[in-house]
Amino acid sequence: MISFILNGAAVTVDVEDDTPLLWVLRDTIGLTGTKFGCGIGACGACTVHMDGRPVRTCVLPVEVAEGRSITTIEGLGSTGSAGSTGSGDARHAVQQAWIDAQVPQCGYCQSGMIMAAAALLDANPDPSDADIDAAITNICRCGTYQRVRTAIHAAARARRVE
Ligand code: FES
Ligand code: FES
Repeated sequence: MISFILNGAAVTVDVEDDTPLLWVLRDTIGLTGTKFGCGIGACGACTVHMDGRPVRTCVLPVEVAEGRSITTIEGLGSTGSAGSTGSGDARHAVQQAWIDAQVPQCGYCQSGMIMAAAALLDANPDPSDADIDAAITNICRCGTYQRVRTAIHAAARARRVE
């Protein structure tokens, strides 16, 4: 049994300790917003926050999450994290910026991109393009990188005026 906080609520799952957190989120709990891409920790499609930091869940044994706080794309705008505009279904500033800049193409990588971007802005409220390139190593087959940068800058501006 592994217990952790998921999007603000306590959960306990009966799975093998070495099961990747990604599969616990998707298959055991049913939150499918977090995606499987490479399975080797390289693409970032499976990114969530653990205690506020981005982690790639395809290579993270669920036992590492014991007692920690996990936030997925489903909970990003409703957990009171920095950039959230409130409780309930409020959008995170990054999510709003993504919509405004029309970042997604196929969309498959985007929940991981958004989680990585939100964590970056929590650590660095005004990142340069170089900071973004260094921190956001997620892979997008559709090549949305320029729009990702644009949206991160917009989210940073929006948070400064909140
Ligand atoms: S699916 Fe986890 S990093 Fe690619
Ligand atoms: S939007 Fe298609 S892979 Fe990134």
